[in-house]
Amino acid sequence: MGGARNAVWVAAGLVLGAGACYCIYRLVRGQRRGGRELGRRPSRSAEDLTDGSYDDVLNAEQLEKLLYLLESTEDPVIIERALVTLGNNAAFSANQVIIRDLGGIPIIGSKINSPNHSIKEKALNALNNLSVNVENQVKIKVYINQVCEDVFSGLLDSAVQLAGLRLLTNMTVTNDHQHMLSSYITDLFHVLLTGNGSTKVQVLKLLLNLSENPAMAERLLGAQVDSSFLSLYDSHVAKEILVRVLSLFQNINNCLKKEGCLAAQPDFTKGSLFYLLYGEDCAQKMRALVHHHDVDVREKVTVPKF
Ligand SMILES: *[C@@H]1O[C@H](CO)[C@@H](O)[C@H](O)[C@H]1NC(C)=O
Ligand SMILES: *[C@@H]1O[C@H](CO)[C@@H](O)[C@H](O)[C@H]1NC(C)=O
Ligand SMILES: *[C@@H]1O[C@H](CO)[C@@H](O)[C@H](O)[C@H]1NC(C)=O
Ligand SMILES: *[C@@H]1O[C@H](CO)[C@@H](O)[C@H](O)[C@H]1NC(C)=O
Ligand SMILES: *[C@@H]1O[C@H](CO)[C@@H](O)[C@H](O)[C@H]1NC(C)=O
Repeated sequence: MGGARNAVWVAAGLVLGAGACYCIYRLVRGQRRGGRELGRRPSRSAEDLTDGSYDDVLNAEQLEKLLYLLESTEDPVIIERALVTLGNNAAFSANQVIIRDLGGIPIIGSKINSPNHSIKEKALNALNNLSVNVENQVKIKVYINQVCEDVFSGLLDSAVQLAGLRLLTNMTVTNDHQHMLSSYITDLFHVLLTGNGSTKVQVLKLLLNLSENPAMAERLLGAQVDSSFLSLYDSHVAKEILVRVLSLFQNINNCLKKEGCLAAQPDFTKGSLFYLLYGEDCAQKMRALVHHHDVDVREKVTVPKF
C-alpha cells in the first residue's frame, strides 16, 4: 500500500457510528490540502486531518472523526499521524476537555501498548499534552504502571523512555498521583545513573517533584542507591544536571529540618540515599562546590549541619 499513500487517496468508505453517515475519507499527501487549488475549501475528512501540515485547531466534530479513525484503522502510518495531530491539538486547554468528553483518553491510551515504538512514543506524547489538565490526570493515571514498565524495562535513552519520563514528570506536578511511583524509586535512580544527559535531566525533574512531597522524600531517602550517585556532585558535571542534584539535596534537607516532616523515626539502612547524602564523601564534595565558578551552582550548595 505504501506507494498509494503518495497519491490522493480514496480510502475505503468508513461507516461512522451506527448511522448511515457514509463518509469517504481522502488522504491528501504531498499536495498540501489539494482542494485549495481548485478554488474551494473542501470539508476536511478525518485523514485530511492527520496531514502533518495541518496547523489549524480542530473543532469537536473534527476531533471526534479523528478519534474514530484512530480507533478503527490498522495502518501504522495513519495511527501515528492521528496521534501527532491529537497531541498537537491537546496543547490547547479547550481541546483537553473536548478530547476527554469524547472518550478520547482511553482510545489514545490504548496505543501505548502498541509493539511499534514509534506509535508508543506518539501516544505517550499525546497523553503528556492531555495531562496538563488535572481532571484528565485522573483518567490518565490508569496508565502509570504500564508507562513505568516501558520506562524501566525498555531501551535506555530511547525516545519511548524519554517520552514516558516526560509523562510521569507531568503526572507528578501535584502530589495526587506521586504515590503510584513508590515502587519504582530504585529504578528511577538506576536510570538516573546509567542514562545519558537528556535522560538524567528528565529523571531529575521527576525526582525534584517527588522530593517536595514529604511522604515521597522519605521514600527517596530510604532507597538503595549506588554510591556512584555522588559523582553527580563533581564540579565538572554539566550545570543543568548539577543544579538539579543540588536542588534535590536542598529539598530533602529542608524536609528533614522541618520538625515532624517524616512520619515515624525512619531507620535508613546503609547504602540508602540518606547515608550517601549525609556521609563524609558528600560533605567533601559540597565543600568543593562552594567554590564553583558558576554562581547558580554555588547558591544551591547545601552544607548540612546535623
Ligand atoms: C511503525 O509505525 C511506522 C509509522 O508510524 C511505520 O512506518 C513502521 O513501518 C511501523 N513499524 C512496524 C514494525 O510496523
Ligand atoms: C504538545 O504541546 C506542545 C506545547 O505545549 C507542542 O509544542 C507539541 O507539539 C504538542 N504535541 C505533542 C505531540 O507533544
Ligand atoms: C509538563 O510540565 C511542565 C512543567 O509544569 C510544563 O512546562 C510543560 O509544558 C508540560 N508539558 C507538556 C507537554 O504539557
Ligand atoms: C513539579 O515541578 C514543576 C516544574 O518542573 C513545578 O511547577 C511543580 O510545582 C512541581 N510540583 C511539585 C509537587 O513539586
Ligand atoms: C541520549 O541518547 C539519545 C539516543 O541515543 C540521543 O538521541 C540523545 O541525543 C542523547 N542525549 C545526549 C545529551 O547525549
